[in-house]
Amino acid sequence: MINDMESILLTEEELQQRIAQMGREISRDYEGKEPLFIGVLKGCFVFMADLMRQVTIPCGVDFMVVSSYGKSTNTTGAVEIIKDLSQDVYGRHLVIVEDILDTGITLSYLTKYLKNRSPASVSIATLLDKPERRRAEVAAKYVGFTVPDAFVVGYGLDYAEKYRNLPYIGILKPEIYE
Ligand code: IMP
Repeated sequence: MINDMESILLTEEELQQRIAQMGREISRDYEGKEPLFIGVLKGCFVFMADLMRQVTIPCGVDFMVVSSYGKSTNTTGAVEIIKDLSQDVYGRHLVIVEDILDTGITLSYLTKYLKNRSPASVSIATLLDKPERRRAEVAAKYVGFTVPDAFVVGYGLDYAEKYRNLPYIGILKPEIYE
């Protein structure tokens, strides 16, 4: 799989170091609030597993599945909820956990969707932020890394369901998806 990468953007060590910082920050900010972490599948699963183990306060975990790009590298602009939460979030402090904030369409939709259920608060923790491609206004409270406008894979992120198991994040060679 390494031959499909143009370059390695973030190594395993860089990822782990930053995620440990994020976990400490979230633990401090949500002390006494028992937050509910909501993972956006499938991309979040590796990041979320590592982030959760750096959170030192009592918390809950749940997951949602939303439509993704399929085999294309460009968003369709439409968001579909394929799996909803399995619990009531009324009065809870919610932290949405996402792999990458790209156009912002997914997270702006999800934030509004969750706010309609009257939680105490909703914030976003994203591992990566690609601000150059933003089309919908979204503010992430926790951002691991700001990345350039390139298609990245690994550490949960896929292209056509491949590369999620890489322990690092790499920039995919354009000829793989062109
Ligand atoms: P948004 O709605 O455009 O912000 O898209 C968010 C979703 O698009 C992410 O959860 C990813 O599944 C996918 N995505 C966006 N950029 C990339 C990328 O560079 N690599 C892999 N998936 C991506």
